[in-house]
Amino acid sequence: MTDSQMPGFHKLPMSEKLKEIAKMTGLTEDEVKALANTGGLPSDVADRMIENVVGGLTMPLGIATNFRINGKDYLVPMALEEPSVVAGASKAAKIAREKGGFTVTNTGPVMIGQIQIVNVPQPEKAKADILGRKADILKKANEQDPMLVSLGGGAKDLNAKVLATITGPMVVAELIVNTGDAMGANAVNTMAEAVAPMIEEIAHGDALLKIISNLADRRLVRASAVFEKDAMGGEGVVDGVVNAYAFADADPYRCATHNKGIMNGVVAVGIACGQDIRALEAGAHSYASKTGRYKPLTTWEKDAEGNLVGKLEMPMAVGLVGGAARTHPAARAAIKILGAKTAIELAEVMAAVGLAQNFAALRALASEGIQKGHMKLHSRNVAVSAGATGELIDVVAKRMVEEKKIRFDRAKELVEELSKNR
Ligand code: MEV
Repeated sequence: MTDSQMPGFHKLPMSEKLKEIAKMTGLTEDEVKALANTGGLPSDVADRMIENVVGGLTMPLGIATNFRINGKDYLVPMALEEPSVVAGASKAAKIAREKGGFTVTNTGPVMIGQIQIVNVPQPEKAKADILGRKADILKKANEQDPMLVSLGGGAKDLNAKVLATITGPMVVAELIVNTGDAMGANAVNTMAEAVAPMIEEIAHGDALLKIISNLADRRLVRASAVFEKDAMGGEGVVDGVVNAYAFADADPYRCATHNKGIMNGVVAVGIACGQDIRALEAGAHSYASKTGRYKPLTTWEKDAEGNLVGKLEMPMAVGLVGGAARTHPAARAAIKILGAKTAIELAEVMAAVGLAQNFAALRALASEGIQKGHMKLHSRNVAVSAGATGELIDVVAKRMVEEKKIRFDRAKELVEELSKNR
C-alpha cells in the first residue's frame, strides 16, 4: 500500500470497498470472507451505522449466570474477547447470592450539557445574568425535545461557572438534563446548541463548545454485596481482598488495573447491549479522579462476622432508546435476554456486574493467583492461534494444561504431532 488517500472511496458500495482494500493490502480470500461476515448485524444496517464500512467484526457473546440484583434474577449477556471474565462474574454472583445478591441504587438518568462562552468582558456579571435568565433558557432547551419532556424528562436546572484557564477567564453554562431512557448525548447536545445563542447574548461573549459532559456524576449507580467468608475461601482470602483494595487506594499504578477489572464487566455488558462504551470508560475514570487523586471505584471491608462487604459507585450513562441498542438486532436480542425494561435497570445490572468482576479478580489475585484459571481457559485460544481446528482445539488445550506449558510454540508442536496421528 503506497497511498492512503482514496478519493471517491466513501461512495463505493460496501462490497466494492472491501475488494478495493483487499487489493491494496493483499488480503487473502479467507481474510476477505472473515471481514465480509457481519455476524448478527445485517450489512445494510452496518453500512449506515458508521462511514467507509467494509465489513464486520464479531465477538463471542457469553451469558453470566447466578445474578440476583435487587431481589430479581438476571441472565447477563457479555460480549468480549477475554477468557475468565464471564466465568469470574458468574462465580462471584453465585457467592453473592448466598447473602441475598446485589443491592443497587441510582441517582436517576441525569446528564450535564456544557456551553462554553469566551471573550466575555465581565465574567462574574455574565454568570449572574445567565442564572437570572434560567427559566427562559430551560424553556428554550425543553422546546427541543417535547417527547422527552412529555415522559417526565428534559432540562431541569442550569448552573453557571467562571473558569480561570490558560487562555484567560471563560464562562461555562451547564444544562442539567433528565434524559429518561436515552443515554442522552443527542438530546443534550441539541439542547446545548439551541440555547447557546441566547446565552451568548446574555453574556456578551462568543459561544464555542456546546457538548455533553461524560463526567456523568449526576448519573451514579451504587452497588453493594456481601460475600460469605467460607464460600470465598476463608477469612485469609477476605483479608487478602481488603489488602488488595488498600493497595489500589494508595497507588494509581495498581488502581488503574483494579478499575480495569471492574470495566471488564461493565464494558462487556455494554458492548452486548449496544452501549457507547467510550462514554462509560470516560465517565468511570474521570469520576475515579474527581478528588484530584485516582481512586478505586469500589471499596472492600470485613464485617463483624468476618464476611467481605463490597461497594461500587460510578457513573453509568446508558440508554435503551436510540443508538445501537435499537439498531443492532443482536444488541436488541441481548437486552431481551437481560430483560432490562429501563435505562436505569440496565445501569443497575451493569453496576452489579462491575462489582462482581472486581470481586472475582481480587479473590483470585489474593488466593491462587490469576493465571491458573485464566491460562486454563486461555489454552483454547492458544491452540486456535497455533492452527488447531475442530476437536483438536480441546485436545491440544488439554495437553498443554496437563503439561503446564500453555505456550504458542508447544501448541504448534502438538498441532503438528496430533494432526499426523489423525
Ligand atoms: C484482567 O483483565 C483484569 C485484572 O488485571 C484486574 C485486577 O488486577 O484487579 C485481573
